[in-house]
Amino acid sequence: TPLDRIRNFSIVAHIDHGKSTLADRLIQSTNTVAERDMQEQLLDSMDIERERGITIKANTVRIDYTANDGLDYVLNLIDTPGHVDFAYEVSRSMRAVEGSLLVVDASQGVEAQTLANVYTAIEADHEIVPVLNKVDLPAAEPERVAEQIEDVIGIDSTDACLISAKTGIGIPDVLEAIVTRLPSPESGDPDAPLKAMLVDSWYDPYLGVVVLVRIMEGTLKKGDQIRMMQTGAKYGVDRIGVFRPKMENMPSLGPGEIGFITASIKQVRDTKVGDTITHEKRQTPEPLPGFKPSQPVVFCGLFPVDSSEFEDLRDAIEKLALNDASFSSEMETSAALGFGFRCGFLGLLHLEVIRDRIEREYNIELITTAPSVIYHIYQKDGTMHELHNPADMPDPSTIDHLEEPRIKATIMVPDEYLGDVLKLCQDRRGIQLDLTYAGSRAMTVYDLPLNEVVFDFYDRLKSVTKGYASFDYQMEGYREDNLVKMSILVNDEPVDALSTMVHRDRAEMRGRAMCEKLKDLIPRHMFKIPIQAAIGGKVIARETLSAMRKDVTAKCYGGDATRKKKLLEKQKAGKKKMRQFGKVDIPQEAFISALKMD
Ligand code: GTP
Repeated sequence: TPLDRIRNFSIVAHIDHGKSTLADRLIQSTNTVAERDMQEQLLDSMDIERERGITIKANTVRIDYTANDGLDYVLNLIDTPGHVDFAYEVSRSMRAVEGSLLVVDASQGVEAQTLANVYTAIEADHEIVPVLNKVDLPAAEPERVAEQIEDVIGIDSTDACLISAKTGIGIPDVLEAIVTRLPSPESGDPDAPLKAMLVDSWYDPYLGVVVLVRIMEGTLKKGDQIRMMQTGAKYGVDRIGVFRPKMENMPSLGPGEIGFITASIKQVRDTKVGDTITHEKRQTPEPLPGFKPSQPVVFCGLFPVDSSEFEDLRDAIEKLALNDASFSSEMETSAALGFGFRCGFLGLLHLEVIRDRIEREYNIELITTAPSVIYHIYQKDGTMHELHNPADMPDPSTIDHLEEPRIKATIMVPDEYLGDVLKLCQDRRGIQLDLTYAGSRAMTVYDLPLNEVVFDFYDRLKSVTKGYASFDYQMEGYREDNLVKMSILVNDEPVDALSTMVHRDRAEMRGRAMCEKLKDLIPRHMFKIPIQAAIGGKVIARETLSAMRKDVTAKCYGGDATRKKKLLEKQKAGKKKMRQFGKVDIPQEAFISALKMD
């Protein structure tokens, strides 16, 4: 395809503003898929994505379109994830295309994620076409939202497309805007040495590892010997093709084109997103700039509730890791929980997705320990090391100081909820950097410790703003603070899975809250159970769970045997979800609930 007939683009939008619906509509109105194969949200392939309505993996589709000028164009859409955890995936898929459609719900307006993703698109030098969606809704205010886009983002919105992705209004205008307003790929010589970007990769049960590529220069053909420049790995290309959105084989891909290859690559881990692919025999002299592997930032322990399922869990984690290079794991043993894995994630959503998949697809019930960030520990002997697990905290007397990761968070919220949002950020040790208004919405920027955000910040933010706030963040680097490890002792036994790192000034408050929660969560036993929070050897909070008085079956009066049996069975089933700590049974939910701050 000649370069001037190619348009490569992505769609930038806040969650729920209609990105997937628009993509479906573009595919449908160009007859890319037969009508009978059309199913809602074609691009969200995984069930879990469909259920949660979020797009996790970047997907892509090639659309053939005959424009009003009578010429045939190839439109390549790369679908990008909308959630903060996947910021790196967004930024690198943006570098594979030249333009973006900025979709904003005309009844909602600009949100924090819209901003974050638009800035990523601007950084990638994109031409941006504003698209105001959901104009069919009575609450839609396209003029106001167009003005807001100009004020807040600074993009000319006089020629914004007004559409309803749901009813199909305005879709032809979007297709024309893609052709007339977005640039074609910059010149790329088909005879130059191959330079292609590895945009994404995933495991396909039939084909093995599939790699999404954008060709910058040169031509990639079936049978070529290729080299990944960052990893140095060599492969022979077995298959080349494009997505419509089903896979379709092609003999080759040239400059400006986007497609997939398979090359007997064993694991997704061997393919680094952002890497440059070139020919083994004739290498490009300059790899693409800006390569950085994505790094897990949140860690937690995953343990099977039933310890006999450890091998199954290992198997599940290995399988998931094959398909997800940003998910890391290593074996962990906990005195309380036995054998499990310490796993690293890009963020909380990523953690939840993996945990759900293990529970649902592999049928393993899990205990998840408190999520933790990576601390930098500077020891008195001058060495620094990373702490991924509070349980591994060295003797405090050997430590010079501790540093924790901070983020820059952008929150947009209707101004009636601003007070609650500021209080929440303040309570989480936030430092306000900025506060501005766009209409009746406030935008505030905070410097916050990541560890105060990883646990339940989104949930709290949602509940204090009734779901009207939007949130986005980026990592800012490490800073020293007065951090200590707080241990929890149940019946005088430390429960390592409940250890957390806390700020010294908040330790008493957090310790008290955790002990109170645990007191409610742990069932009574035949004996009295002290529950304590401690720093070093010093107890800072304490609760006592009193002993159980009666046998639960006593009130069945012995008469009704089946009822008694049922009650005992129920108790037994309840037991399964408990773990024994010394003589005490702690229910699974306690590990998460005890850590929630409210
Ligand atoms: P993520 O995949 O989670 O990022 O969301 P998305 O931006 O892809 O949003 P999606 O396309 O899933 O749309 C969100 C909701 O808005 C769905 O319930 C759609 O049916 C609805 N929706 C999308 N476009 C329109 C529209 O033009 N009008 C109306 N009334 N509803 C729409």
